[in-house]
Amino acid sequence: MSVSCSVAARQSVKSDALIVFVPQSGRQFNQAEKALVSAIPHLTPLFDSKDFTGKSLQTALAYCGSAAASPRIILAGLGETGAITIETIRRAAAAAAKRAAAAGCQHIAVDLQTVNDIDAESMAQAVVEGVLLSQYAFDKYKTISPNSAKRVKKLTLITDKEHQKAVAKGADAGMIIVDGVTLARDLANAPNCEIYPETLAKKAQEVGRKAGFKTTVLDKKKIETLKMGGLLGVNQGSVRPPVFIVMEYMKGAKTEKPLVLVGKGVTFDTGGISIKPAPGMSDMKSDMHGAATVIGTMQTIARLGIKRNVVGIVPATENMPSGTALVPGDIITFMNGKTAEIDNTDAEGRLILADALCYADRYKPSSVIDLATLTGAIVIALGNVTTGMMGTDGTMMNKLREAAAKTNEYVGELPLHEEYEELISSDYADIKNSGGRSAGSITAALFLKHFVSYPWVHLDIAGTAIQPKASHYTCKGGSGVGVRLLTEMLRHS
Ligand code: BES
Ligand code: MN
Ligand code: ZN
Repeated sequence: MSVSCSVAARQSVKSDALIVFVPQSGRQFNQAEKALVSAIPHLTPLFDSKDFTGKSLQTALAYCGSAAASPRIILAGLGETGAITIETIRRAAAAAAKRAAAAGCQHIAVDLQTVNDIDAESMAQAVVEGVLLSQYAFDKYKTISPNSAKRVKKLTLITDKEHQKAVAKGADAGMIIVDGVTLARDLANAPNCEIYPETLAKKAQEVGRKAGFKTTVLDKKKIETLKMGGLLGVNQGSVRPPVFIVMEYMKGAKTEKPLVLVGKGVTFDTGGISIKPAPGMSDMKSDMHGAATVIGTMQTIARLGIKRNVVGIVPATENMPSGTALVPGDIITFMNGKTAEIDNTDAEGRLILADALCYADRYKPSSVIDLATLTGAIVIALGNVTTGMMGTDGTMMNKLREAAAKTNEYVGELPLHEEYEELISSDYADIKNSGGRSAGSITAALFLKHFVSYPWVHLDIAGTAIQPKASHYTCKGGSGVGVRLLTEMLRHS
């Protein structure tokens, strides 16, 4: 989508639909009504009907007559003035964009009058995020009636001279962030026949080349030399070899210890010999969403030119059943020499992450954040709304909570009490890879904790990464979760 700014009166901007935000509260609503009706008399019957009240997420479309620069106007409700946040703006912008798209509008112009204490830069960023993210569809394989036929293709932000600079800055950041989220969504939604370890690595290299970070891909031979028994074990049932992707963006001070982001890259999870039931298995094409988030975030921070040292690490493999696959009872040895008994081959994410967390130690990181579609249990605990957060780095968890409040990518902490450890104790190895159904997300995190030697946060995105239905500005399927959260944290703390 192309985005531009225009310094002009809203009635004079040419588009297919002009979008104006309207708050619900009495005085503010009346003021908006008065200004709108006096500029566009065609709005009189709409306001007279009292159908439109400015309620949050409400939209109303009216026709302004052929003489108007924009033949349509869409009013987008913001709800009560006191409750308006950045997220209100994102959602209202998304609702208006969807309404415009349904009406066949390709070019929309959004009036960016600032609301409450929301500054012009944040406002512009929120509108860009809401509009652009709401127009996403993974439809490149549809040759008959793709969803994209009815989509907004051009966005003009209307502002004034005073706010022009701030609006341009917010819009630029918004576009870069949306590109990162879109990249993550595309990678997660791509089927296994398109994205498997080798193609995921190619994609990371291409993104690095274009955005400006260094990508190194370790092949199976190198992975064997490093004795990554977890990654090799999960991979041993597959025809396709594993890869280990390392992305380095070092634009911070030489003395600054890097932040390391680790993303689970299971390009398809059948469960292996402990095979999953058929219904819904296709969702497991997105079991590399952690990896997608890390690659999307690396692109975003590089394009934003953030002055930080950040390393992205992605262990990638399929989890397949075959005559050569891991079986329950097998014992594997990780890069750091620790051993694990395989209780369930479907608990594969923690096995590949264990080696990646060992590898992260090389960077002497200030903190490591891993993102993984790790457990079905987190979907039971927190649904598809909140990412499960666990770990040892309290400072980083606080920063993530702050970023979550701004991005609406919620995080909720689960405890890592030592008492849960016994669930993953093994009679034959140091630990076992499954603790059964009880506290499934916690035991998965505790398994990872055995491989951590630095401040660490684990984000279980199994629920938030794969959405069962569309909502606001998120589509069904891969959500791109984490890109906005991590970018916000890196930009502002
Ligand atoms: N990739 C799955 C977790 C998952 C489930 C992600 C639903 C997204 C949606 C993971 O590899 C897995 O299978 N975990 C098992 C662990 C169990 C065997 C201990 C699970 O959650 O059932
Ligand atoms: Mn699994
Ligand atoms: Zn998995």
